[in-house]
Amino acid sequence: MTETLRVALGERSYDIRIGSGLIEQAGAEIAPFLKRPKVAVVTDENVAAIHLNTLRDGLAQAGIEMVSLVLPAGEATKSWPQFSKTVEWLLESQVERNDVVIAFGGGVIGDITGFAAAVLRRGVRFIQIPTSLLAQVDSSVGGKTGINAPQGKNLIGAFHQPTLVLADISLLGTLTQRDFLAGYGEVVKYGMLGDVSFFEWLEKNGPKLASGDAETRIEAVRRSCQMKADIVARDETEQGDRALLNLGHTFCHALEAVTGYSDRLLHGEGVAIGCALAFEVSSRLGLCSQESPSRVRAHLKDMGMKTDIKDIEGALPDADALIELMGQDKKVVNGKLNFIMARAIGDAFVTSDVDLQVVRDVLTDGLKEKRVC
Ligand code: GLY
Repeated sequence: MTETLRVALGERSYDIRIGSGLIEQAGAEIAPFLKRPKVAVVTDENVAAIHLNTLRDGLAQAGIEMVSLVLPAGEATKSWPQFSKTVEWLLESQVERNDVVIAFGGGVIGDITGFAAAVLRRGVRFIQIPTSLLAQVDSSVGGKTGINAPQGKNLIGAFHQPTLVLADISLLGTLTQRDFLAGYGEVVKYGMLGDVSFFEWLEKNGPKLASGDAETRIEAVRRSCQMKADIVARDETEQGDRALLNLGHTFCHALEAVTGYSDRLLHGEGVAIGCALAFEVSSRLGLCSQESPSRVRAHLKDMGMKTDIKDIEGALPDADALIELMGQDKKVVNGKLNFIMARAIGDAFVTSDVDLQVVRDVLTDGLKEKRVC
């Protein structure tokens, strides 16, 4: 069974195809978008080792030739040196204005490849084939592309919508449990920000999903992508509603920065902890009930996920240092930090009216059992 969703953006509209075995039939899926039977694929060394030959065969079945660039795996790849290497490789591979570039990997590969496609010859089309749960439910949809700067994450980039997203959920079977659960942080975020019935569905079906049930996985990816597609269609460039997708991310980006964007904290793990913190702050501000953060944390714990700051290994800086880093976030407007707060599970909103002392208290409590460096 393959589900198709549409991201409605006028002439930049595109489909998200969600199903099992889409890589094997990638040629048939992609051929309608090609002016000539040749594509340039950017991937990383982990994905290449397991899946690149399957993609090559799938494309070959439709007579499509493929050249590929294999980048190092990991967040450090979202850098100027790897970006210029990618752009120069695309030029050396003679990718033309009417060609299609394929991003075949997780969020890092999608972001750097999409940004390279955005600037190559002033913009070529690209197709996302996300291989991680995080990329399937979030980063491959919506056209945010870019790389990191020393000053912060994702600070250099462009909005460049893909031409097609192929979310092959059979690829999720090769993820480690840790990577899968990190992606789940973004799935559960959708329930928390805008759909309590989805959160309830996840409370019931989360364990089945984690254990590999294909139908449940398709349903979770479909509902997540549907929510994202709707939000992106309303607010492509994040002037309003789209910021809701950043629930938990202001905390997350600070925690990622202090853990050096390393294996100490994966992005989706930071999102999960960040969501729990956002609900805790909301509760202490009297915006939502005290039960809401408890329920959020209970579900994350049931799933075996990192839930609290203390679940991050190693020493962390104090609350003031974390707040300072939050000020580097893209969500700072006129010098004021915007937060995504919640009135209830499934009812998030954007506000700059948050007492930073409450944020400091919540972070200080979270850091209590940590060695502060
Ligand atoms: N990941 C948040 C967004 O795409 O807007």
